[in-house]
Amino acid sequence: MKQYTFHVIHGPNLNLLGEREPAIYGTLTLEEINNRICEFAKSKNCEVRCFQSNSEGEIIDYIQKNRNCDGIIINAGAYTHTSIAIRDCLVSSGLPCIEVHLSNIHSRERFRRHSYIAPVCIGQICGFGYYSYIIALQALIHYLEKYSK
Ligand code: DQA
Repeated sequence: MKQYTFHVIHGPNLNLLGEREPAIYGTLTLEEINNRICEFAKSKNCEVRCFQSNSEGEIIDYIQKNRNCDGIIINAGAYTHTSIAIRDCLVSSGLPCIEVHLSNIHSRERFRRHSYIAPVCIGQICGFGYYSYIIALQALIHYLEKYSK
């Protein structure tokens, strides 16, 4: 298997994980989640860089700067439901992307059901807590192995 490099992007308020609405988002901190993601990636001989920002512009700058990687996993937080700019940026990157959420956005408030980002991603994974990121990583590796030869 090729040694892929991926970027995992966390959007606004995800820096507060651990203390933020633990009944919905769980008790793991962002650092603990990132460690689990990196551990899993290592076991698959892949490299992952994790980035968090509360700012839409910084997320866009980060994606633009890192277009040379193999894929993106993004939990855009509330920007999922509002940001055409992040969607456009993902499209221009030309990279395979997977959208992730800790919570099941389809079983919550109606406004969370719509994502501007999902239609430009390979797929969306939500509802599995931190494990959503692990599933996304597995899916991205599978996708690249299968389709990008
Ligand atoms: C979230 C779901 C979003 O609706 C919310 O705004 C978040 C977190 C999740 O991971 O479940 O900030 O992306």
